[in-house]
Amino acid sequence: MTDPTWTTVDEYLESKLLPDDPVLTACLEASRAAGLPEIQVSPVQGRLLQLVAEVAGARNILEIGTLGGYSAICLARALPPDGRMTTLEIEPKHAEVARANLERAGLSAKVDIRLGPALETLPKLESEHRGPFDLVFLDADRPNNRAYLAWALRLSRVGTVIVVDNVVRHGEVADAASRDPHVLGVRELIDGISAEGRLRATALQTVGRKGYDGFLLARVEATGSPAGADHRSTRPKRPSGPAQDR
Ligand code: SAH
Ligand code: DHB
Ligand code: MG
Repeated sequence: MTDPTWTTVDEYLESKLLPDDPVLTACLEASRAAGLPEIQVSPVQGRLLQLVAEVAGARNILEIGTLGGYSAICLARALPPDGRMTTLEIEPKHAEVARANLERAGLSAKVDIRLGPALETLPKLESEHRGPFDLVFLDADRPNNRAYLAWALRLSRVGTVIVVDNVVRHGEVADAASRDPHVLGVRELIDGISAEGRLRATALQTVGRKGYDGFLLARVEATGSPAGADHRSTRPKRPSGPAQDR
């Protein structure tokens, strides 16, 4: 399910809204030359990430899934001079390409690339008190999405913004019979968000040069126990009816 018009429109929007960007162009060229998979966010999505981080006033950003550093450059550009970003990557080759791309972008002083499986790196970030993060971008292996969400919550504060890429997967997300581990990972993430109760979230279906997919956007609304724990059962029941503030 891909329509060539989606790419044509992306090209049009890029030509008008995203003026020549030699740093991002060089990042893509170096990533391609190194043989990395071309699965980074598209230019308009990268700009969306930058804008979300700017609007949120993010000073401390976490990314899971660095690849060649394309989205990391977009996000790190939103940081103030004393801002910091940590990005997690399992593949040494990807991390090496990203390091060079961030260096060329003049962002290496702000961005810390941590090599290793994210589920091993995240506990280290916690013990180093690297949180709370103002924005978390989840864009790694989908089957671990729910675990990453739990970590994002542990490392967050009220108001932290969580963005998740690839939540629609050509529409497969709505297929309850799917056995695709990526689809199951996204569905578990969405179940986790609805069970958790302290995130306010939405998701948008997107089309473009990367086909048909989607972005999820969430805001942490309260502090509490890790995702999945029913901390609400120990508290007085809320009055029924819609919450007042939403
Ligand atoms: N955010 C990037 C694209 C990331 S692609 C961009 O838009 O520019 C997903 C990346 O996640 C790949 O580089 C892959 O190696 C990495 N990844 C996969 N499993 C991982 C894991 N368990 N821990 C850390 N990174 C992982
Ligand atoms: C693909 C796209 C992504 O954005 C990603 O993070 C992983 C895989 C893909 O098109 O296969
Ligand atoms: Mg992605």
